[in-house]
Parts: sequence; C-alpha cells; structure tokens
Amino acid sequence: MSSVDITTHSTIVILDFGSQYTQVIARRIRESRVYSEIVPFNLSADRIQKLQPKGIVLSGGPASVFAPGAPHPDPAIFSLGIPILGICYGVHLMALQLNGSVEFSDRREFGPGTLKITAPCPLFDGLPSEFAVWNSHGDKVVSLPPGFQIVGTSENSPFAAIENRSRNLFGVQFHPEVAHTPLGKEILENFLYNICKCRPDWTMGSFIERSCREIRERVGPDKVVLGLSGGVDSSVTAALVHRAIGDQLTCIFVNNGLLRSREAETVQKVFGEAFRIKLQYVDASNRFLERLTGVTDPEKKRKIIGEEFIRVFESTALELKALDSKEHRYRYLAQGTLYPDVIESVAIAGNPAAMIKSHHNVGGLPEKMDFELLEPLRQLFKDEVRQVGLELELPKEIVFRQPFPGPGLAVRVIGEITPERLQILRQADEIVVSEMKAADWYYKVWQSFAVMLPVQSVGVMGDQRTYENTIALRIVESQDGMTADWVRIPYEILAKISSRIINEVKGVNRVCYDVSSKPPSTIEWE
Ligand code: XMP
Repeated sequence: MSSVDITTHSTIVILDFGSQYTQVIARRIRESRVYSEIVPFNLSADRIQKLQPKGIVLSGGPASVFAPGAPHPDPAIFSLGIPILGICYGVHLMALQLNGSVEFSDRREFGPGTLKITAPCPLFDGLPSEFAVWNSHGDKVVSLPPGFQIVGTSENSPFAAIENRSRNLFGVQFHPEVAHTPLGKEILENFLYNICKCRPDWTMGSFIERSCREIRERVGPDKVVLGLSGGVDSSVTAALVHRAIGDQLTCIFVNNGLLRSREAETVQKVFGEAFRIKLQYVDASNRFLERLTGVTDPEKKRKIIGEEFIRVFESTALELKALDSKEHRYRYLAQGTLYPDVIESVAIAGNPAAMIKSHHNVGGLPEKMDFELLEPLRQLFKDEVRQVGLELELPKEIVFRQPFPGPGLAVRVIGEITPERLQILRQADEIVVSEMKAADWYYKVWQSFAVMLPVQSVGVMGDQRTYENTIALRIVESQDGMTADWVRIPYEILAKISSRIINEVKGVNRVCYDVSSKPPSTIEWE
C-alpha cells in the first residue's frame, strides 16, 4: 500500500474517519517535512504495522461515534506500541474503545475556544499555559479510560486534551490542523518530533532524487510517452521524467484549437527548446472545430472534445509505437496523477470528499491502450508538485499557472463555437491575463478569465451606433475549486481591463463583471 520506501522515511499514518480536514492534517504534517499517508479507517492493525509508521493520527469525522454505522478502527491499533494522536472524533473513539465514556451531545461545540493546560504533556512542550483553539464536535468525553489523565481543559470541556503517557496515546478535542488554531503547527510538531521521534526528512529535493532513481529502475531501456497539456501536473511530470530518463521520454502536445493565445508556442518554447524534451506537436484544431460546428450544449462539447482527444492521442502514440524495436519500446504512459486523486475516500455520509465526484475528467487518456502507467506524482499534494516544479527549474508561469479546463475555451465561448468567436475571446482573455499580471493580482487569485457571451447589445462608438458582443469577466478565489467567491478586485483594474477590451478587441462593445459565488453558480459558465 505504501508507495514510499519506508526504510528511508519517517512515516505517519492517518486513519481517515471522513473529516473534511483529513487531507489538511496530511498536508500540515508534510509541511513539517514528515511523510504522511492517509489510509482507510478500517485498515487492520497488522497492515498498519507493515507500513512501519512512527506514529498514527486518528482524524476527525462528521459522525457521532454512536451513529449507526459510525466508522471504528481495529481496536488492536492501540496495542501496537506506536504513538497515537486522536483528533476530535479520533479522541472520542480512543476514549470509547479503551473503556472510558463518551456522551452524545446535540449541542455541537463549534468555533473558537481557549485551551488551558492543566498538567505537563509533551504535546504542549514550549507552549503557553493558555491558547486559542478551534472546536467542531458534538460528542464529548465524560470519563477517562484507565491509565489516562487530563492535560488540558476548555470552557465547555473538562476533557479537552488527554494522555496516557506510558502507552504514548494522546487525544485532543479541538483541531490542531486548522489555521484557526494558531499554535496547531507546534502541537503537531511536538507529536512528530518529540513523541514519534520522526526525522524531518521529507523534502522535495530528496523526493526528486529518489523518484528519478525509481523511474530509471522501472523503465530500464524502454520508452515513455506523456500527454502534455501545459498545465502544472503534466508539465511537472514531464520535467521529472525527463530528468530521470532524458530522451527516452516523448511528450505529445495536442493543439485542439481551443487553447488560449500563444499557449502552443509557450509549450513548444519551454519544453521543446529550453528543456530539449522530445515533443510531438499535433495540430488537430481543424478536426476539433469541425466536430464542434453547431454544437451549443456544454456536455456535448465536453464529450466531443474528450473523444476527439483520445483519438488524436491514440493515433499519435501508435505512430510512435510503430517505431518500436525489440530492445526499446514505448511501454509506459506517464501521467500527472496527484495524491488527492488516489486517496481512497471514505464513504461516510457527510464526508465531502466521498460525495463529490468530479465531472471534470475530460482530457483523460485512453484506457485500453497497451501501456503501463507511470505516475511519479501520485504521492504528492498540489503545493508539493509546485515545489518540485520549481526545483526542476520550470518557469513560474507554468508552476503557478491558474487551472484551465481540459475542454479549453470551448466552455468559455457560450453557445456556438466559431473561429471568429474564439478569436475574440482569445484577445479579450489575453488582456485579462496581462492586466492581472501587471497589477500583481494574477497569482493571488484562483482563476481570472474572460467569457464570450451569446449576447449582442447596442453601443455607440464615435457617432456610430454599434451592435456587438459582450464579454463577461470571471475572477474568483478558491482553495480547491469546490467552492469559490468572486474577488473584490479594485475598480481601477476592472476599469482598465474593460476599456482595453472594448478599445482593442474588434467586435466587443460591452464588458460585465460576474459577481456570483460557487455554490450556487459554478466557476466556468458551462
Ligand atoms: P466549475 O466550473 O465546475 O469548475 O465550478 C471547477 C474547476 O474545474 C475546472 N473545470 C474543468 N476542468 N475539465 C477540466 O479539466 C472540465 O471540463 C472542467 N470544467 C471546469 C474549472 O476551471 C475550475 O477550476
């Protein structure tokens, strides 16, 4: 199960009880340079032991420990001799399974609180005797399991932090992983370094070194093909695999005719020229645009683009494969799969990770092709991928670029896609990007782009009446694209973007700013 060489890294295993914060715990631990891995809550104690973790964290969860079907871990984990930290739901489970008692309270404690340290505990070493914490729980511990003592209390809970020092078991009712617990990092680091004796050995430099070694060992003399989109994930994968095996890697870049201005040139410049990666550039714009003629339904657009992409990619890859020799063949397909895509999310009612199924798999690659998958980023979170990209010397424009949908400008030209309407959108979008960069806002927001509306309206230019197109501006902030809010961007920037678009882009006489949040709106318009 572990994809990391456990002999070289201190590992913390996080049992996932379905909290919306489980991935946040994993990221916080990695920010402290300790490798962490999320596993399903019911992984047996035996299998957990095989991962040789230095410590175990029991995550929070949306349920009450008493709810029907509430997830419970293998009770044998408490006897492995491995330090355990229970967070929120995790401490309630710990108390319940070790014969303390827990009560269900229908008055959920949610929001800020103050933790008072009442006895010395290695979890709170070096911290003040009182500090702010963030609570979000319904259940509460009401009597301690044998061998435990109270080490911290809060306004509403005499059992806010507990420990069994001799067994290295610790529990906190609050959430140290969230930013609203300002000393949470220190608490987690006390657990990692003092209690679990982890070494801070998870760095992106060491990741690159090890990953290159593994790629070389696995690939041997064979060859690798990769679908390069110019997005962060496929770009970093390309740079990493190229670092490992050089010319044994060939990237395929498909121009689907729905790219932004100068996108194809940038990819060719960065990867073909600067990195000298073998790049197969396929201009398939005509094929895509022909099939999209007259199509206005967003899901139809996505379907056509997805199908067409697979066809083009497949035939290009087959052309490469046709050149295979017995000794060197295109055997692997590299993909930029990230850790959040591979975590087995726990199917518990209320777990957002389990409920939300992405509909954004357009741009996915052929499943039936005769390739073995190479996914060197599958252990990494997005921020780690960006660090790897920087260490591999990819330009900032690529490493920090905003997300761009697989179907490209097709879902930003609302209604029918024509070369003329695409051209208008490209010009408008280029102005948005360049003004956002000039004002130092581009990298501060999640996405900022133009949308071409199927609306014409009356305007006046000089003495002439005009009847032209409308561009909508969409600028949003977001953590992960699941929810988003429109950015309160300074009026001067909006004014500049608007006047430049209307003056410079022929065919546009009106610009609107989208002031809707997600939900209930979405980020893209289609
Ligand atoms: P929505 O519009 O659903 O978008 O709020 C959330 C995030 O996903 C991106 N997006 C897509 N990405 N293929 C993709 O690869 C798609 O079909 C697609 N649709 C939306 C969107 O840009 C935003 O970051």
